[in-house]
Amino acid sequence: MIRVGVITASDKGSRGEREDLSGETIRQLVGQIGAEVVEYCVLPDEREVLAAKMKVYADAAGLDLVLTTGGTGFSQRDVTPEATLSVVERLVPGIAEVMRWESLKKTPKAMLSRAVAGIRGKTLIVNLPGSPKAVRECLEAIFPALPHGLEILKGETSECAEPDASSIK
Ligand code: MTE
Repeated sequence: MIRVGVITASDKGSRGEREDLSGETIRQLVGQIGAEVVEYCVLPDEREVLAAKMKVYADAAGLDLVLTTGGTGFSQRDVTPEATLSVVERLVPGIAEVMRWESLKKTPKAMLSRAVAGIRGKTLIVNLPGSPKAVRECLEAIFPALPHGLEILKGETSECAEPDASSIK
């Protein structure tokens, strides 16, 4: 089972002034890849606070996947990518690229998300935008490859080869 931690970055949410629909959307959708949300929090848009929780989820809890939602845009308080970049050891540009590529087919505003993805130890950390709609669109874009990447990260497989139909006579 893929163990997931969700971090919702929202000043209002952390003060209890906004219901976290995006976190709930993630919780519902990850079942599609056989994953389960085992850790969850709503934090203010503070770089150090967000980074500290990412470290706890990766190092102490040893989660396979940390999904953040919110704080990827242009507001002065949007610092989730910076928090992520301060804790990851290896970038995974393709995940952010495919999220933006697929999202751009739905809205030009997708280019405004500064989301990043990267690896800390054996944990993959992926930024998602803040709205439930964006969360759904981005997760659907990355789900096809995510379980395979997480298996490799855990050392459960090193095998990427798929049968090449063109070589079968
Ligand atoms: N991505 C998808 N797939 N769908 C969306 O509706 N909204 C965009 C963008 N990414 C959107 C999206 C908008 S309007 C913004 S401002 C940025 O994500 C940043 O969002 P955030 O600040 O909530 O993280």
